[in-house]
This record gives sequence, structure tokens and C-alpha cells, in this order.
Amino acid sequence: MEDSWATLGVDLHLERGDEATRSGVRKGLTDALREAVRGGRLAPGTRLPSSRSLAVDLGIARNTVADAYADLVAEGWLTARQGSGTRVADRAVPRPAAAPARPRRVSGAPTYNLMPGTPDLASFPRAEWLKAARRALSAAPNDALGYGDPRGRIELRTALADYLSRARGVHTDPDRIVICAGFVHGLQLLGGVLRARRLRDVAVESYGLDAHWELLKRAGLRTSPLPFDELGTSTAELDTGSAKVALLTPAHQFPMGVPLHPDRRAAAVDWARRAGGLILEDDYDGEFRYDRQPVGALQGLDPDRVVYLGTASKSLAPGLRLGWMVLPAPLAAEVVEAKGSSGWACGALDQLTLAEFITSGAYDRHVRGARLRYRRRRDQLVAALASRAPEVRASGIAAGLHAVLELPAGTERSVVEAASWQRLALQGLDQFRHPAARVARRDALVVGYGTPPDHAWAGALEALCGVLP
Ligand SMILES: Cc1ncc(COP(=O)(O)O)c(C=O)c1O
Repeated sequence: MEDSWATLGVDLHLERGDEATRSGVRKGLTDALREAVRGGRLAPGTRLPSSRSLAVDLGIARNTVADAYADLVAEGWLTARQGSGTRVADRAVPRPAAAPARPRRVSGAPTYNLMPGTPDLASFPRAEWLKAARRALSAAPNDALGYGDPRGRIELRTALADYLSRARGVHTDPDRIVICAGFVHGLQLLGGVLRARRLRDVAVESYGLDAHWELLKRAGLRTSPLPFDELGTSTAELDTGSAKVALLTPAHQFPMGVPLHPDRRAAAVDWARRAGGLILEDDYDGEFRYDRQPVGALQGLDPDRVVYLGTASKSLAPGLRLGWMVLPAPLAAEVVEAKGSSGWACGALDQLTLAEFITSGAYDRHVRGARLRYRRRRDQLVAALASRAPEVRASGIAAGLHAVLELPAGTERSVVEAASWQRLALQGLDQFRHPAARVARRDALVVGYGTPPDHAWAGALEALCGVLP
């Protein structure tokens, strides 16, 4: 077992075999905490989470955490007092020979992480997932352990066809679905196939992820950004541009957070029909919409012109590396061939487990629970801003796991810098702007309020309010 206590930057490394014994886990945790205190990553006076919440976070027994805390109290690294919990002891950290005169930026993992892109990993439904894995493996035929179909396991494609039509309005059948190792793998496969079709240009949004633009570039494709205005991404330029492919985030623009305007949804599909074009729909967090019904998938408007790409990275965890594409039939054949000749990269057991997880209803239950928890955080963020930083406006908050916080002009860099001094990881909007985007620079933060585990959320919010102007 290997886990990390993300909020305090403590890595819990267990030797092979240790995970099987309670004493092995206790020793691993005691060593990790001692190292963190000795190395100064846990400063004197730092209050540790309760043994209950740390146990949940790490997926280990509460008594094991309590024992590790007791060991370190006995050694003098921690103190435990009734009413004030367990804290790092004063003077537990050996003083450096020459203490720096002014505070210095601390390297290593941040104490709080509000970077967008990752859900709360501590809330991964471990018990339900294990049950699904056990059931899936017991029921799997022997041939499930063979090389199988490059499209992916039929059980998962069948489960997804049903789920996607029910939850996201996607038109499909299992034959048009190809399982991939997350969205990026799907985009990589598509990039190769589109280039092999001699396509050269892809229209993208003014704001997005540079990793995706890079990936298309590596496939030999040029990206050109569509304009972005107060209604979100503008699709009118598709008619005049040279691109025959457009990569969009219609349900929840990443990172600006607005849905693609209904007129522009229709216009984009009309363009694709007229021009023989193709839309790549990145539906990375379509399940998480709070104030109204989720916006249905664009693919439902024209399954022959829109490739739908979904992922388990937000709804479950990015470490699963599981995603899916719903493709028009001719493209499906080319993508399957490309996938088949590139090593496939998706384990059958995880696919079977996800299929079981979906068909048993556990996926729906998990998404419902996660939606409630993230909505609560979103509301707490908005309330905290209203009382602590009324100058800062939050936008893009109706959906997803992140919000855009508009800052006074010229302050983005200094706020991100100040946050990093406080060991709070934050990302500014500028990093998400396409280098060729014709949009005025806006100072803003993209705050991933889904990222921290529950016990660190209040501290992360407090730290955020502390650095906002
Ligand atoms: C805009 C966007 N698309 C897709 C993804 C998911 O990528 P993957 O499925 O490769 O983890 C992310 C994850 O952060 C994202 O932000």
C-alpha cells in the first residue's frame, strides 16, 4: 500500500509486506510523521487531524493512527492535550545553524491544494469499488483475461451505452464505444487518426489545457483558438476558418465554467454538417451541475458529427486512467485500429470493475453523494468570499469542481506567489490562455474546490481568504 497525506505533504511509504500487518502500517505512519516533523514540513504547533479523519483519509484503522500518535508523543515529537488535540511539539524541529532572516518559500508539497483538475481523492468509494471488483472477477469468463477486443470489454461498453444515454443524452450503442486510458489517451488516438486523414488544423477554445494543445501538436496538428466573449466560446468563426475539427467543452467550459450558449451549440453542429467537420466534445465533468439539470451532451444533436469523450477522472479518480469515446461508425474503425496497434493501455479487470460499479447502481449513488458534497463546498466558498473578500467575484460556479475568482487588475501573479509562501497551491487563469488567443488578459484564479480532502477543506478556504485582496 502506498498513500499520501496530501494536506500535510507527508508520504506514507510502506515496505512490501508491511501493508498486511497492523504493526507494519503503524511503523510506516510513525516513521513518515517523524520525518515530516524532523524535516520541518510539520511546523511546531501544527495541529494534526483527528485520528478518525486521518484514518479515513489513509484508509487505515483508527487505532493504528492513535497508536502512531502515541508513539510520537512518547518520543517527544508531538504533544497531546485534552481540548487542544494533537500538535507538533515546540522545539521538536532542530534549529538550523543560521536561521534565515526573512521567511522563505518552503519547498515540497503544499499544505493546502486548491489546484483545479482533481476530485477529492479521499472520498474515492473504496469499499464499494472493492465489492464491485470482487463480483466482477468472480463472474468474469476466463477469456476476459486474454488480449480481448481493442474496443474494450463488452461489459463496460454495454454499461456505458446505457448510462450515457440515460445520464448525458448520448446516442450510442456498445459498438461505437472505445474504452481509453482517460481523455488524453482518447485525444492522442484521435489526433493520430485525424492527421492520417490529412487534416492539419483543429479549432480549440481560447481557454483550455496546454497539455491538450501540446498533444495535438505532437500529432502534427495546429491549434487555433476560437474567440471568447461574455457568452463564452464563440463558434461563428468556424465558418470562416480552415479547421475541419473543433475541440470544445460544451457542458462546462474549462476553465471559465460557462456552458456553450444554446445558439452556439446549434451553430457548431450546423457548421459540422455543412463543412463535413467534426466536433470533439470533452465532457470531463458533465455530471456535476448544481443549480439546474445537467446540460445534455452535444453529441445527442448529431452522433455522426460529434465525438463524445468522457472520463472517470472527475467522477471517481484520475488514477484509474479510464475514459471512453463514442464515435461515428467510420471513425470508430480507424480509432480501434490505432488503439489496437498502440498497446491498448486499459486493463481488463478495471474495466470489468467499472462495468459492475455502474450496473449495480454504485456509480449513480457515488455521483449523487459527490454532487452534494461539492455543492456544499461551492456554497461555502461563495459565502466566504462574500464576507471576507467582497471585491472578488466568483464565476463559473453552477457546475464542476472549480470556480473562477476575478481579481483586481494586475494582482494575479502576486496572489499566486503569496499563496505559495503560505504553502497554498493555487493556479492563475493566465496559464490556461491559448498563446494565440485574442482575448484581453484577465486577472483571475482557477480554484479547484473539489481537490482537498474533507478535513482540509476549511483550512484551505481560510488560507485562500487570507491571500485574496
Ligand atoms: C478540461 C479537461 N478535460 C479532460 C480532463 C480529463 O483528463 P483525463 O481523463 O485524461 O484524466 C481534464 C482533467 O483535468 C480536464 O480538466
